Amino acid sequence: MTTPDELLTPVRAGRLELRNRVVVPAHTTNFAVDGLFSDRHLAYHRARAEGGVGLIITEGMRVHPTSLGRANTVSAFDDRVVGSLAELVRAVHGGGAKLAAQLLHVGRQAGGHNVLTAAWGASALPWSSTAAIPHSMTTDEIAELVDAFAAAAVRVAAAGVDAVELHLGHGHLLQQFLSPATNHRDDAYGGSLTNRLRLAREVVEAVLGALPGTMPVILRVSADEFLDGGLDLEQMLVATELLVRDYRFDVLHVSHSAYVGTGSVATQIADMSFPALPFRHLPRAFKAAFPDLAVLAVGRVDDLDNAAALVADGSADLVALARPHIALPTLVASRTDPAAPPARECIACNQGCAGRLELGLGISCVVNPEVGLEREWAALREAARHAPKLRVLVVGGGTAGMEAASAAASAGHRVTLVEAAPELGGALRLAAKLPMRGRFGLFVEQLAATTRHLGVDVRLGVRADAALLAEGWDHVVFATGAAAPAEPVRATSGSAYPEIPVDRAVEEPGGTGRHVVLVDEDGTATALALADHLLHEGRRVTLVTDRAALSWRVPVYSKPALLDRLRGRGFSAVLLRAPTGMAGDSMILTDPLSGRAEQVDQVSSVVFLRPREANAHPPVPSGVSTTSVGDAYAPRTALEAAFEGRLAGLAAARAVGVRAAAAALRGRL
Ligand SMILES: Cc1cc2nc3c(=O)[nH]c(=O)nc-3n(C[C@H](O)[C@H](O)[C@H](O)COP(=O)(O)O)c2cc1C
Ligand code: SF4
Repeated sequence: MTTPDELLTPVRAGRLELRNRVVVPAHTTNFAVDGLFSDRHLAYHRARAEGGVGLIITEGMRVHPTSLGRANTVSAFDDRVVGSLAELVRAVHGGGAKLAAQLLHVGRQAGGHNVLTAAWGASALPWSSTAAIPHSMTTDEIAELVDAFAAAAVRVAAAGVDAVELHLGHGHLLQQFLSPATNHRDDAYGGSLTNRLRLAREVVEAVLGALPGTMPVILRVSADEFLDGGLDLEQMLVATELLVRDYRFDVLHVSHSAYVGTGSVATQIADMSFPALPFRHLPRAFKAAFPDLAVLAVGRVDDLDNAAALVADGSADLVALARPHIALPTLVASRTDPAAPPARECIACNQGCAGRLELGLGISCVVNPEVGLEREWAALREAARHAPKLRVLVVGGGTAGMEAASAAASAGHRVTLVEAAPELGGALRLAAKLPMRGRFGLFVEQLAATTRHLGVDVRLGVRADAALLAEGWDHVVFATGAAAPAEPVRATSGSAYPEIPVDRAVEEPGGTGRHVVLVDEDGTATALALADHLLHEGRRVTLVTDRAALSWRVPVYSKPALLDRLRGRGFSAVLLRAPTGMAGDSMILTDPLSGRAEQVDQVSSVVFLRPREANAHPPVPSGVSTTSVGDAYAPRTALEAAFEGRLAGLAAARAVGVRAAAAALRGRL
């Protein structure tokens, strides 16, 4: 069996020589400024190159203005990109890794919002029911696109990249032409496989013709669209065979999914509701079909043990890990460094990366708040190191509290953390009890391990009473979390709701009765994950919300998969209805627009997912500085809690340099 050490020895993949088999695949960061790689990109990728990876693939570089979904993506169609990419090449080479440039046209999902001209697609079919209708490309536009790919290839080669990746996957434009689900054309580019593959061929030919003959080329494909009427593995093996027979590629990068507002898009960046390695059969099938080509596997590989297993069983030659590198830039280096602190593994929550990607914001990470702000955090850490050392008390052992305590300890402060509960973890400990949210438990374990590794004095089952607060602390961080409102929800008509608190429904799902109504005022994945938990117990679940959308805070990269898991199991949802009372065991719902009432029958219990309220904290003796963080400051998610906690811990000392460095972290991402 391939051990992680063998995974980490030099390898040749076609004409590409790498120091190991581990790859950072393309991931759009939204860090670009004016369409160019920014200083933030340099710091971000330098950290990952120094972290030991063999190859980094740039985020999708847009080959044409019609592919610019957002202003903060990278424009491969702009000559100025050469200089900024060359700087990135130097940064990555400086860290010992190689850099490939991904050339991309996203096609119809560009939406046209950024440039106010329609997005281009194979056919006039929007990617989701709420998306703009794209323009079905003319043959002149197709020719313009092919030229744009070639011109972009010339630019990235001039910048000195080590390889070029052509994106024929993920439901982007070339796949939109290839797939019968998205190509309804009746010209030379539609209909038969030969016709649907024509654009990909023209692009490949133009790009290979434009690149120096020695430049390694990676072809990224979706081996399965997981879509009715779309491309499956068998068809993709045939299509790929037609390409590799005629053109030289060095690596086949075997991904999956289409950009369609169904479960398909939610497989691309599969979240924690999937098990690890859910798509390993795809690279394995490609390796069997193309044994002479290097195959790059990707998708919830999660860690280097899994990566080694993929190589060991012959499924892949190279293995890509995107989110694990977002979470831990030193993924490879930590493996071989006995002094490395406890690892931070990606928990596949999709909150900081995919969630912010969807909002057009710079990516971040729940388990690594330093993503995209590497220089600013380094400056704060340096300032904190030189500041006076304090006695710091952290009250609360959830995400924000453990982050604050660890950060303060890493800056040299003497830190005590008190937690009233018998265990660390706060709100995440409850979330992790839901099968769909289980990997939050891993985050709790990792936070706890870091806290202890850094020598924090952790006291469980201890409340911060007046006596404790008077023990001579210099600084107190309150990370005391939030709680559901103490007042029960009052029915305006009939009897009281048969309400069960969320925590009881999670911990004793058997006690909810046969038909549970979840009233969702929260919009996160909690309602869907709780529904799944109750369905496992044989309950019927009706989700009610007064909003026009279901689970409105869950990214499109997760929501369709979560809904698919509930389908056909006794789950239903009622939108735009507010609960107003009970009549016997029927719950009265009122349409907020018309005022009309209707009812849901045979309700055994109701769980209200309501906005939580910050827990108050006791006063501290005068002269002691305090900070409130996470839910105790304003109830939000683990993403904000981790960021704020780390900031508070490093900024505990009020020295001028620390304050300035901390201020530089606010409002930057
Ligand atoms: C924030 C984010 C942005 C992404 N952007 C791109 C992209 O620009 N091009 C691309 O081919 N894949 C993109 N991906 C997909 C990744 O390359 C990868 O296939 C996916 O994250 C699954 O791998 P993982 O489980 O190791 O994260 C993106 C993924 C994430 C998380
Ligand atoms: S935000 Fe969540 S899914 Fe994204 S990289 Fe971080 S831990 Fe992984």
